[in-house]
Amino acid sequence: MNRGMVSVPMKLNHVVEAQQFNREMLAEIFQASRAMETVAKTGGVAGYQNRIMATLFYEPSTRTRFSFEAAMHRLGGRVITTENAAEFSSVSKGETLEDTIRILNGYADLIVIRHFEVGAAQRAAAVSRVPVINAGDGAGQHPTQALLDLYTIEKEIGKIDGLNIAMVGDLAQGRTVRSLAYLLGKFKEIKIHFVAPALLRMKEDILVYLRERGVQYDEETDLNAVLPNVDVVYQTRVQKERFGDRIQDYEKCRGLYILDQSSLDRMRPDAIVMHPLPRVDEIAMEVDRDPRAAYFRQAQNGLYVRMALLTMVLTSSN
Ligand code: CP
Repeated sequence: MNRGMVSVPMKLNHVVEAQQFNREMLAEIFQASRAMETVAKTGGVAGYQNRIMATLFYEPSTRTRFSFEAAMHRLGGRVITTENAAEFSSVSKGETLEDTIRILNGYADLIVIRHFEVGAAQRAAAVSRVPVINAGDGAGQHPTQALLDLYTIEKEIGKIDGLNIAMVGDLAQGRTVRSLAYLLGKFKEIKIHFVAPALLRMKEDILVYLRERGVQYDEETDLNAVLPNVDVVYQTRVQKERFGDRIQDYEKCRGLYILDQSSLDRMRPDAIVMHPLPRVDEIAMEVDRDPRAAYFRQAQNGLYVRMALLTMVLTSSN
């Protein structure tokens, strides 16, 4: 048991959107995440054995649900879960999200929710007495992914200010790039290249936010033109599930930007490739062998960042 490592964690209540974090909070989260890299190996934190986390996922997940659940187990706490809440919870009988949250308040000390509707985590937080963490709300936000993305960038490159970052792929429907753009807007001399076809270009609300903060950005369709100039390539999947019946639009957008050996050859030797995952075909398997491929390390960092976040929200719900 580790008694000193997380002795005075910063207090957090609900985690619903990336904008809620300022730079001081980010620095604290990253410091706590670094400590968690040791805690994860050495076995738990005193006082967590009676703390319970509920994971309520209405959309599929590999990384987010498993890393949150592993994080709680690594801290020494307990987990209650439903892996397909739409089918296996009483939502299938017509129960509202709000009633589900009110009921879970009686069983758990915090709730981690993934939902297909934008704003669902905010709705849950509005009726919850225990902290709610947004693990992805439709095409809205995925704030804990953005935190682990930024942690990865700092860990891999050593800084965030002054970086040149390409975000590639499904920017219109991608909650990870939206949350990451919000966080990057808090740093100095950031330059973002949004690389996407016209149908998937970054939404105006994010562009307005960046302009208001003086963040430089441009919109490109030619990935190869951008690759030699960037510190980070943040690749994303074109999300078939978000197109609904617009199959023709999906077919127009898929496969346009594939990172392969020729892409690596264009990139700087100290640049990194990131991806929130899952990938389909937008990063060729040959890229995995290159040390600049940071996406599996990025997913591993999710464990440490989520451990840190759990200590912070559980502090506030004592
Ligand atoms: N990055 C991410 O959210 O992955 P999952 O959908 O597997 O949780």
